[in-house]
Amino acid sequence: MISKVISGALFGLEGYIITVETDIYSALPGIDIVGLPDAAVKESKERVKSAIKNSGFSMPQKRIIINLAPANTKKNGAYLDLPITIAILIASGQLVCDNVCDYLILGELALDGSIRKADGVLPMAMEARENGIKKLIVPKENAKEASIVADCEIYGAESLREAVEHLSGVKLIERTVTDIDSLFKQNLDLLDDFCDVRGQDSAKRALEVAAAGAHNCLMIGSPGSGKTMLAKRLPSILPDLSFEEALEVTKIYSVAGLLDGSKSLVTVRPFRSPHHTVSNVSITGGGTIPHPGEISLAHRGVLFLDEFPEFRKDAIEAMRQPLEDGVFTVSRVAGSATFPSSSMLVASMNPCKCGYYGDSARECTCTPQSIHSYLGKISGPMLDRFDIHIQVSSVKFENLTSGEKGESSKDIKERVKIARQIQLQRYKNLGIYSNSQLTASMIEEFCRVDEKGNALLKDVFEKLGLSARAHSRILKVSRTIADLSGEKDISPAHIAEAIRYRSLDKKFWGGV
Ligand SMILES: Nc1ncnc2c1ncn2[C@@H]1O[C@H](COP(=O)(O)OP(=O)(O)OP(=O)(O)O)[C@@H](O)[C@H]1O
Ligand SMILES: [Mg+2]
Repeated sequence: MISKVISGALFGLEGYIITVETDIYSALPGIDIVGLPDAAVKESKERVKSAIKNSGFSMPQKRIIINLAPANTKKNGAYLDLPITIAILIASGQLVCDNVCDYLILGELALDGSIRKADGVLPMAMEARENGIKKLIVPKENAKEASIVADCEIYGAESLREAVEHLSGVKLIERTVTDIDSLFKQNLDLLDDFCDVRGQDSAKRALEVAAAGAHNCLMIGSPGSGKTMLAKRLPSILPDLSFEEALEVTKIYSVAGLLDGSKSLVTVRPFRSPHHTVSNVSITGGGTIPHPGEISLAHRGVLFLDEFPEFRKDAIEAMRQPLEDGVFTVSRVAGSATFPSSSMLVASMNPCKCGYYGDSARECTCTPQSIHSYLGKISGPMLDRFDIHIQVSSVKFENLTSGEKGESSKDIKERVKIARQIQLQRYKNLGIYSNSQLTASMIEEFCRVDEKGNALLKDVFEKLGLSARAHSRILKVSRTIADLSGEKDISPAHIAEAIRYRSLDKKFWGGV
C-alpha cells in the first residue's frame, strides 16, 4: 500500500511543503529515501526504526521506499522523522487515518519515540496556511509558536504514540490556542526603564531623538558613565511592534532556534549585543544551510555594538551593506535566502585606551599617538553611518545620590510614538518610515530650512569645518527634532540641536 503524508521544510526564512510518499513491497528488508535528502534526513532511518520499535509498533520486514517530493529541492533537517514514521505506519496498515492529508506533520524523533523541538516551525506553519492546510501536528514545545498563525488548528505532540493516537482518533491531543493580546501585554513589563538612569539628561534627550527618527547613534564616553545602561533601555522607548512586525521578527527567531516553549511571539523590540570577538558569519548570517546573523536577530530593534573599536574590522565592514539595505542575501547552489536586517545601530566606545580622553573629571594618561591610533580604528565611512554622536560624561555624584528618579520610559515613548506617526503619515507613499531613511532628493523636499537657519548652518560649517557629508545628516536630524516638537517647519533651534549631535567627530576625529 502506498501512503502520503504532508510535511514541511525550510530554506532561509521561508517554509515550503514536502510530500512524503511511502511504498512497501516484498523484498529484502531495508529503507531507501529518495528525493535529495541531506545527511540528517538519511540518518532518520535509524531513528525511525528505533522509535517505531520502542513505541510498541513493529517495523515491517519488507522493502520500504520513501520519496520526498518535490524531487528537485534539497531536504534538510531532522523534522521529517515523524512524517516518515507516520507514512510507514499507514503503509503497513498499523495506523488507519482517512484524513491524514488534512494535516502538516513535522518533528524529530528520539530513539524512545519522544518528539524533539524543531527550528523554523513558525514559517512552516505560515506556509501550511498559505497552501490551505489548517491542521498541524508539531512538537509540543513548538505548539505555542505555531499557534500564533491565525485560522490553524495546532496539536502539540510529545511522542510518536500521541501523534498516532490522535490521527487514529483513539485519543485526541488538546488543541493549543494562544491569546495574542495577552502576549503583547505580558512582555512589555519586562523592559529596563530610563527612570533608573540618574542625570545624563543630554544623553537621554539624544537617544530620544535617535529613537524618534530611527537614527543610528554612537556614544563616546569614559568607563562607567552609563553607556551600556542607556543603550539597553532604548527598546523601552521605541514604539510597540505591530502584530505584522512581531510576526516578522518571530519568524527569524524561530528559524534561529531561539524561541523557547514559553516565548511564542517576540512582542518586544529585540536588543542584540554581540561580543566584539564575533565572526563575520555570526554577525551577518550565512552558513551552508543559511542562518540568520546578529543583524537579522536585531531586525526592528536595536543592534548594540559595545566597545566598538574592538570589533574585527572585517566584521564591521561585512555588516555595512546589509545595514544600509535592510536585507542580507545569502546565495547558495540551492537558491538564495534573504534575511531582513532593518535595525537601529547603536555603538559605544571609550575615546582612548585609558578611557578618559576629553573627560572633565579625570585626566587621560594616553599619548597623542595612542589616542590617534585608537580612534583611527573607526573608519570614516563607518563613522558616517551614525547620524547622531553622543558624548556621555561621567555622572555627577549629586545626581547619583539625590534619590530623584528620572523621567520614565513610558512618557518618553509617548513622544517618540507621536513623532513616528508624523513621519509615517508624511512618507506613506514613498516606501520609507523614518527620517533616517531620507534620500538626497527627499531631503531637499522635506527638510527645507528658512533663511535664518541657513545662515546658522553656514556659520557653523565655516567655523567647525564640517564637510558636505555632515550636511544631510544634520538636516535629517533637524527634521526629527522638529517632528518631536510637533512643528511643521525646521527652525534654527532645531538645527542648533542637530549640530550638537554632529560636533563630536570634529572634537575626536578632527572632522570628516
Ligand atoms: N547615570 C547613571 N545612573 C545610575 N547608575 C549608573 C549611571 N551610570 C552608571 N551607572 C551604574 O554604573 C554601572 C556601569 O555603567 P555602564 O556599564 O553602563 O557603563 P559604561 O559607560 O558602559 O562603561 P564602559 O565604558 O566601561 O563599558 C551601571 O550598571 C550602573 O549601575
Ligand atoms: Mg559598557
